[in-house]
Amino acid sequence: MTDLPMPRDLPEIEDTGRSNPDPRRPIGELIAERLSRRAALGGLAAAVLAPAVAQAQAPAPAPRAHDTGNANDAGPSSLGFAELRHRYSQRDSVAEGYEIQTLIRWGDPLFNDSPAFDPLKQTAASQSRQFGYNCDFIAVLPPFRPGTAQGQRDVDRAVMWVNHEYTNTNLMFPGVGTGPEARARITAAQVQVELMAHGGSVVEIRREAGRWRHVKGARLNRRITAETPMRISGPAAGHARMKTSADPAGTLVLGMLNNCAGGTTPWGTILTCEENFNFLFGGAAADTGAQAAAYKRYGITASPPYAWFRHVDRFNLDREPNEPNRFGWVVEIDPYDPASTPVKRTALGRFKHEGCTHAVAADGRVVLYSGDDERFEFIYRFVTARPWDPNNLAANRDLLDEGTLSVAKFEANGTLAWLPLVQGQGPLTPENGFHTQGDVVIEARRAGTLLGATPMDRPEDIETNPMNGKVYVALTNNGNRTAQQVDAANPRARNTHGHILEMTPTGGDHGAATANWAIFLAAGKPGVDPGTQYHRATSDQGWLSCPDNVAFDSKGRIWIATDGAPDAAGIADGLYGADTAGLGRGLTKLFYQAPAGAEVCGPVLASDDKTLFLSIQHPGEERGSTYETPTTRWPDFTPGMPPRPSVIAIVKKDGGAIGG
Ligand code: FEO
Ligand code: CA
Ligand code: CA
Ligand code: CA
Repeated sequence: MTDLPMPRDLPEIEDTGRSNPDPRRPIGELIAERLSRRAALGGLAAAVLAPAVAQAQAPAPAPRAHDTGNANDAGPSSLGFAELRHRYSQRDSVAEGYEIQTLIRWGDPLFNDSPAFDPLKQTAASQSRQFGYNCDFIAVLPPFRPGTAQGQRDVDRAVMWVNHEYTNTNLMFPGVGTGPEARARITAAQVQVELMAHGGSVVEIRREAGRWRHVKGARLNRRITAETPMRISGPAAGHARMKTSADPAGTLVLGMLNNCAGGTTPWGTILTCEENFNFLFGGAAADTGAQAAAYKRYGITASPPYAWFRHVDRFNLDREPNEPNRFGWVVEIDPYDPASTPVKRTALGRFKHEGCTHAVAADGRVVLYSGDDERFEFIYRFVTARPWDPNNLAANRDLLDEGTLSVAKFEANGTLAWLPLVQGQGPLTPENGFHTQGDVVIEARRAGTLLGATPMDRPEDIETNPMNGKVYVALTNNGNRTAQQVDAANPRARNTHGHILEMTPTGGDHGAATANWAIFLAAGKPGVDPGTQYHRATSDQGWLSCPDNVAFDSKGRIWIATDGAPDAAGIADGLYGADTAGLGRGLTKLFYQAPAGAEVCGPVLASDDKTLFLSIQHPGEERGSTYETPTTRWPDFTPGMPPRPSVIAIVKKDGGAIGG
């Protein structure tokens, strides 16, 4: 249990770029907004940085010193655990009284014929039968399809979906070394392993004698990879820009890439979201091809960090210029039918989807919220054309193919409008290159820009709090925002620590065209970083940096996972809990701390709140860390075994609910 020196170097793969060419809004508009905001607040000078806790339902308690060192004092929080101390270690840790169980690791066999994991003998065939790399989004569903006679509540069994977002080439294979050259050095066979390490897994899990385990060979177990055939549906299906030499109809694509976060539907399917696919495509056409401008808007470059395009033709833009148009979508997967074909739902738009969370509008239509995770990109919402049918699950099968995609425009007065991305409306005309709705969804980013959407500080997870119906948006950071580019919803220049917005749909209806919004918290170290906003009793251990994925327990408390805290704040990534209402609103407490180099993602609570599932992604991802000498060998700590991204289950030792 060694504490490591801090701070570390930058992680190797993160999109630090900016694809939105001119995120700045006209300065006149900005000034006018600020003036009107001040007027609305009766001339309060601090309008733009109005503290989050001012929105609290109850007044915050008297100020308390941040450095009390008294981690046992829950203060006004409803969370009963003693919070951890910020530190940085090869090992992970959780609050006292809780236990970490390693549920499934990269390479663990999923099927009866799966070979045992041997990192020195990896093949594409073996990886395609084992749990993939860099787990992210987790969904925990009942063991039988909802609405079926068998679909009884059973808290000891579940079917789990897990995304496999990307690969750390230098930590997966011996002899590759580190740095940008490493990925260029790998062999064609290793690229094939990486293809199989992407995608997602369906795996049945079971709790026996208080311990969660995955069930090898279970009926529903399935691996989805970068080569699993998927149907393309919705407005982009069959579009000229979706056609390739392997798929002249433009309706069938092999695999999904960089699936980060996701969501579920009310009818029991998974929505899994393609994010940083741009890193896997390369070739001179990025600069010179007919689609160069569109590539650029999605961050596609001639020489990406990964070597795939050198070994696999379809990732080479010079050979298959349309292949990247077939990625960046939300994929719907039926976890209850291992033979089902996943479907890319193009009506939901093409961008770097972080996740896709559902809510139901007052009239029964399904509403899906999704953030585009890049600096200065947008927040989107899709509303189905028809209500979902709880009594006829088959009737919902293609519900996500018809509806309205919108993009958010935040106003300085605390409201926001959802602007529809509909071909033929406003600037989305043939003169601007939008001949069909297919054009609009393929270039959703450019369409959003033309409509005047608000460029945000990297929208990560968006989740609805089941207790208050409010929608929470994690904006992870944006160190590139200048003082001239701040606005009310992104109020900090050089926002290296991020913030969380709280949106309230008008009339409590997720289908409404407008909403109100407020800042729930602004991350960073209180008293050190400018503009932080927490509950005043947040301790010296409870502040956080780079919020990414969030989850809610059945009491409506928020659980915030972070990604990037080591670089931004010199602390390990972790998971923090906080009340969203009452005296403890916004009082974040550190519950779990990741091992060196790892981010925490995929947080989800079991239906009885007694287990918290987390994905621990990219352990050992630090500059200079290699297969031979990783900065951690979490979770096995076996000589010669590289670090293994894993899903963990956290339980309370006395069997109680997480957080008390
Ligand atoms: Fe894959 Fe936006 O994190
Ligand atoms: Ca991630
Ligand atoms: Ca994320
Ligand atoms: Ca992230």
